[in-house]
This record gives sequence, C-alpha cells and structure tokens, in this order.
Amino acid sequence: MSDQDSIFFRNFSILLAVLILLTIILAVGASMFQDNLVENLKDRADRSGIQADIKPAASVNTDPNAVVEVAVAQVAPFDGSTDGEMIYNNVCAACHGTGAGGAPKLEAAAWAGRLDKGSDAVLANAINGYTGDAGMMPAKGGRADLTDEQVQAAVEFMTSSL
Ligand code: HEC
Repeated sequence: MSDQDSIFFRNFSILLAVLILLTIILAVGASMFQDNLVENLKDRADRSGIQADIKPAASVNTDPNAVVEVAVAQVAPFDGSTDGEMIYNNVCAACHGTGAGGAPKLEAAAWAGRLDKGSDAVLANAINGYTGDAGMMPAKGGRADLTDEQVQAAVEFMTSSL
C-alpha cells in the first residue's frame, strides 16, 4: 500500500465514522421528535375543552314534541287603558247598546237576575265567555287581546250605569 492509499483510507474511515455518527444522531433525534409529536397530539385530543370549542354554534331541534316558544310582545289594546266607558263604547256597545243577540242592555231590569250571582261571577262570565238563556256572551266580548283588568273596567262601567 502506498502512503497515498493509507492517507485515503484514513480520511475515508474518518468520513465513514462521521457519517455513521450523523445517521445515529438523526435517527435518535427523529424518534425523540416523533414521540414528542405523538404525546402532543394525544394531549390535545384529551383536552376536553376542544370538544366544546369546536361544537356547532347552533343546532336544529329535531324533537317533534319540542315546544316552540315565540316571544310575542304583548301590548294591550287601547294603549292598555282601563277607561271602562271607552272600552264599553268600542267593544261591548255593539251588542249591549242594542241588545243584539240577546245581550242585556244597560237597563236595570235586564241585569236584575244577573247581579244576584255576585259581581265576581258576572265578571268571570264576561272574561271567560258564557252562554245563558238570553244568548252567547263571547269571552271578553270577542276581544281576546283585552286584559282582564280592561274587561273588569268595562263591566264596572256597565253595572254602574244601570
Ligand atoms: C257579540 C255580542 C256581545 C259583545 C260584543 C259583548 N257581549 Fe256581553 N253579553 C252578550 C250576550 C248575548 C250576553 C247574555 C248571555 C246570556 O245571559 O245568555 C252577554 C252578557 C254579558 C254579561 C252578563 C254575564 C252574566 O253573568 O250574566 C256581562 C257582564 C257582559 N256581557 C259583559 C260584556 C263586556 C264587558 C263586553 C265588552 C268587553 C261585552 N260583554 C261584549 C253579548 C255580547
């Protein structure tokens, strides 16, 4: 072997050793990195908060029995006024002013038997509706949007005008 050959062999051996070392370092490094990555992913999947974070913002309730609640702003008619005479004129007079359909007019004779039941019973009949011998009194005079207080005011106006 010439000197040049042995120098080449020495250099080549060193190069080989360095390459092997580099390979080992890369292999170990890669495996450490992979372990780390797997741990990291597991960690993230476990985090329960993620499920909450990625859940849809809204869902459709497919339960056919679900109660649909729609908020409707309840505004009493006549601006909520409890002016009994005004309510009577606008709603009740159509029947009670003329006696249409057997409605008792504002005459004492037409009311004598009715008031014997007591004012609470008479008021309840006006609110809930009532069918008697004379005819059919629709609930709240057909104006379901009237409040109980407004019907009461109208009844009080009627019974005080007899
Ligand atoms: C569509 C016609 C009609 C309208 C409108 C109407 N009523 Fe009547 N109301 C009747 C009739 C008919 C009766 C009698 C029912 C019977 O005794 O057979 C009656 C009876 C009554 C009675 C007596 C109940 C009882 O216990 O004897 C009251 C009180 C009364 N109405 C209040 C009102 C008020 C208050 C209004 C308005 C908010 C009103 N009514 C609007 C037809 C009407």
